[in-house]
Amino acid sequence: MDFSELISKRRSIRKYINQPIPTSILTRILSAAQVAPSWAHKQGSRIIVVSQSDKVEQLIDAIGQKWTESAVTFLVVCIDPEQSGIARNKMNYFPVDAAIIMEHLILAATNEGLGTCWIGWFDEDAVKSALSIPPKCRVIGITPIGYFEEVPPAKERLSLSELCFDNEYGEPLILKEEIKEKEFE
Ligand SMILES: Cc1cc2nc3c(=O)[nH]c(=O)nc-3n(C[C@H](O)[C@H](O)[C@H](O)COP(=O)(O)O)c2cc1C
Repeated sequence: MDFSELISKRRSIRKYINQPIPTSILTRILSAAQVAPSWAHKQGSRIIVVSQSDKVEQLIDAIGQKWTESAVTFLVVCIDPEQSGIARNKMNYFPVDAAIIMEHLILAATNEGLGTCWIGWFDEDAVKSALSIPPKCRVIGITPIGYFEEVPPAKERLSLSELCFDNEYGEPLILKEEIKEKEFE
């Protein structure tokens, strides 16, 4: 799949079918996370593949979103904040490192025909306790991963002129006609 097609095909999938993910496919998806950039190449993020049914149940409880009940496998991304860095503006970059991992996983899953949905709303303590995640780590994102039947319609996006500015904040960016066309619809 070409990259433009891949990113346009990604959706948040909230209904899954119970079909196992072949190990070779899961391995390719996890390998996509291996090559993610990270602060000072610290590679602080960790991915927990949750597929054991009792763990899946505990995770669904900790997330507390009804739609997750159809999922049978989850990826949980966590990071020890000390394994990242703080920028000059005092911005703490550990969620950024972990978010890049999340997006690599999500796009790699899309490329394999698998659905995902970034979950940011969960009971972090309950997730940590269910999966024995050390207290010093933060859970940044969770996604179900699996096969699905229905593709939800694409959501409306900001136009490029709303999204992008020309040299200064608020200055409309005028693009050449061929780029302006909605390639990513
Ligand atoms: C950081 C983050 C947290 C999110 N948390 C949730 C969540 O807890 N539950 C959920 O159903 N969707 C969640 N989403 C998915 C968004 O609702 C979704 O990406 C957005 O509506 C756009 O839809 P699309 O992903 O299908 O393009 C989250 C997305 C991001 C990026």
